[in-house]
Amino acid sequence: MSAAMSLPTNPVPAGDIRDRLIIGLDVPSVDEARALVQRIGDAGTFYKIGYQLAYAGGLEFARELIDAGKKVFLDLKLHDIGNTVEEGVRSVARLGATFLTVHAYPQTMRAAMAGKAGSSLKILAVTVLTSYDDADLVEAGYAPVPAAELVARRAGQARDLGVDGIVCAAPEAARVRSIVGSDRLIVTPGIRPAGADAGDQKRIVTPAEGIRLGANHLVVARPIVKAADPRAAAEAIVRDIAAA
Ligand code: C5P
Repeated sequence: MSAAMSLPTNPVPAGDIRDRLIIGLDVPSVDEARALVQRIGDAGTFYKIGYQLAYAGGLEFARELIDAGKKVFLDLKLHDIGNTVEEGVRSVARLGATFLTVHAYPQTMRAAMAGKAGSSLKILAVTVLTSYDDADLVEAGYAPVPAAELVARRAGQARDLGVDGIVCAAPEAARVRSIVGSDRLIVTPGIRPAGADAGDQKRIVTPAEGIRLGANHLVVARPIVKAADPRAAAEAIVRDIAAA
């Protein structure tokens, strides 16, 4: 049996609470990602693949995960001319991914919505990168605008364009929820179980707090990826989500 065929197969029923935890596969190789997914087993149903793994064979691995019954969030943060975004999103939809991120520029969001038409792919908009503060926006050429205002404006544009959801930090989730309404998804990173190392995340909340603040899904990487027992770490987070 090839390594690719040894992933556990566990199709996840709709509404499974485990789906609310999205595990960030922030590892440098497919071999490490596959070993991690095997260790986590059926405690993990939904995986995020970002730049690091995507550009190291991660797109083929995404198909492997999907074939094994897992859901996949491709965190590719697309932004290009409309035609290129639309065709790129069409390819991602064909792959069978569940979530894909794009930057929240109206032209890009419009193109992404056209590209996913007829598929079950959901488009998530990244409003303002959380590493940007007001000064970074001015440096990038924006007229002075508080980052929080730009987040709100872009969340409203995403809503008006029918985008499926927003990625935002937990402290922004309540405001974003008030803008996009209850039928859009909010996906939130910056989650740390009580007592876990914050790493470079500045505004962290626990899994239960993230859910209470309005997130539908939480993205967690290091507290699971670097845990001595990644499966137990994932299970503990799902328990915290269930308790929220
Ligand atoms: O290791 P940690 O749990 O902090 O990882 C969080 C994941 O969410 C990483 O993959 C990171 O790239 C992603 N992310 C984030 N903050 C954002 C957007 C995405 O931490 N604003």
